[in-house]
Amino acid sequence: MKKAALTILSFFCIFAMSGCGNSQTGSDIDSENSVQDTTAEPTKSEKTTAGNSDIISESESVAVSEPEEESSSTETETLVVYFSATGTTKGVAERIASVTNADLYEIIPAEPYSSDDLDWHDSNSRTSIEMNDINVRPEIASESISLDSYSTVFIGYPIWWGEAPRIMSTFVESYDFSDKTVVPFCTSGGSGIGRSGDNLKDLANSGNWLSGERLDAGISENKIQDWINELN
Ligand SMILES: Cc1cc2nc3c(=O)[nH]c(=O)nc-3n(C[C@H](O)[C@H](O)[C@H](O)COP(=O)(O)O)c2cc1C
Repeated sequence: MKKAALTILSFFCIFAMSGCGNSQTGSDIDSENSVQDTTAEPTKSEKTTAGNSDIISESESVAVSEPEEESSSTETETLVVYFSATGTTKGVAERIASVTNADLYEIIPAEPYSSDDLDWHDSNSRTSIEMNDINVRPEIASESISLDSYSTVFIGYPIWWGEAPRIMSTFVESYDFSDKTVVPFCTSGGSGIGRSGDNLKDLANSGNWLSGERLDAGISENKIQDWINELN
């Protein structure tokens, strides 16, 4: 009987010892879990590191994008507006835009000017009739433009009978130039800009208008830069 009881007792001891072996298996699971931890849920320090690396990459992307935003805002500061019936003023306007890194806006008449229209020898030509009437406002076909992002607006045109073409009156009366510097320029067969810039200023009734300048048809970009430096 005693022997049987001892046998049962030693069986339980062996069973209990084999239970200790199970605890080793548990530590194996724990070590497996730590591997899973690194791939699944980051530890606090890992979260911080990951967070920092996120911040670094965010700040890096901000550092890269910020100057681009700044440069794009300066790129759109200047606008060169022009009307050109035969291409001379257009060429000068494009060179001003190139020098000033400006946007270009062409005033396109709803009814294009034919060579007959432009015949200044004919007192009945369209331009002769228009220039004889200060109240004519030829319609503009170009889509209207927002001036909001521009601080400086160059406005160019050919001289017709000593004046800006009437379509320029249409343009300046259609926009608000408040808080903008406006610089008139013209091309011509030889006449100066005269009072044409001042007359446009009176019609616009807003903006800080500088005295305008007649520019040669073939003016170089260097000469344009000199002129702009003088304006500044
Ligand atoms: C109807 C008309 C009137 C003009 N009147 C004058 C003028 O009074 N004085 C002048 O020097 N040139 C005059 N011109 C010449 C233009 O000003 C000159 O050719 C100008 O550079 C043309 O510019 P555009 O090619 O951009 O239209 C006149 C041209 C036209 C068509």
